[in-house]
Amino acid sequence: MHSSDTTLGRWRGQWALVTGASAGIGAAIAHALAGAGAKLVLTARRQERLDALAAELRGAHAATVEVCRVDLALEHGPEELFAFTQAKTIPVALLVNNAGFGSYGEFRHTPLERLAEMVQVNVGAVVKLTRLYLPQMVERGGGDILVLASTAAFQAVPYMSTYAATKSFDLLFAEGLAQEVSRYGVRVCALCPGATQTEFADVAGRSAARRHGESAADVARVGLKALAAGKSLVVSGLANRLGVVSQRLASRHLVNRVTAVVFRPH
Ligand SMILES: NC(=O)c1ccc[n+]([C@@H]2O[C@H](COP(=O)([O-])OP(=O)(O)OC[C@H]3O[C@@H](n4cnc5c(N)ncnc54)[C@H](OP(=O)(O)O)[C@@H]3O)[C@@H](O)[C@H]2O)c1
Repeated sequence: MHSSDTTLGRWRGQWALVTGASAGIGAAIAHALAGAGAKLVLTARRQERLDALAAELRGAHAATVEVCRVDLALEHGPEELFAFTQAKTIPVALLVNNAGFGSYGEFRHTPLERLAEMVQVNVGAVVKLTRLYLPQMVERGGGDILVLASTAAFQAVPYMSTYAATKSFDLLFAEGLAQEVSRYGVRVCALCPGATQTEFADVAGRSAARRHGESAADVARVGLKALAAGKSLVVSGLANRLGVVSQRLASRHLVNRVTAVVFRPH
């Protein structure tokens, strides 16, 4: 690994594992990495999508791509993925913890199973995959980990309370770990996008939300560049950065009240 390289060229010829690669930001990260010469392990539940993306990346960039279908909501999903890369002796130099989803609406109406799966995918799998791959990175003297948090990590989001709490976890987890492992040459960065044009809103049941926001490609580039530059946190997009800074000037209570009004279902 060229640890001094602060561009995406850092991952040329290196293996990157991208979770949630079948759509949105994960697929965009896979495109960016393949374009930069990285080798890829793509994972998600939708096999056809992963196969189609793998074929596209092989065709466009002559990329080396492996596909591993795993459901990260299952308790042993992360271990299955780890066993796959171990069996193929793939040294994962970059772990992208991107898979995640939200659910919009009153907490009391959200099915218990969906909430449990959300915590499992957004939090449990992130912790497990990081714990599984980090020791190898330390042994090799370097490695990189990108964690998809969100601007939802900086305050409560009523009607998406569980989702915001999982993203808050992701943010603090990444920032804490970054300090802990930097002395082993391992970099960890929390990427915090705001609204991004992906399938997220449809999956969350908030399709009525305006399809505004950044492109997945822009968010992917911002996250990878920040990680390569050694940052432990990046908020994608100027408006989002201003939002995060300005809400710190207000009381938490006020921010929560305003967020509740914005998110209250019609
Ligand atoms: N879009 C936004 O506005 C936004 C803003 C801030 C942060 N984020 C974060 O960005 C990340 C990516 O979201 P996105 O916007 O790209 O959404 P997306 O288009 O819905 O993609 C989500 C990805 O996660 C995968 N996934 C979901 N459940 C899974 C499971 N049980 N097992 C394995 N993979 C699973 C999906 O694949 P399968 O369905 O094929 O399994 C898909 O590839 C998430 O962590 C999200 O919280 C998104």
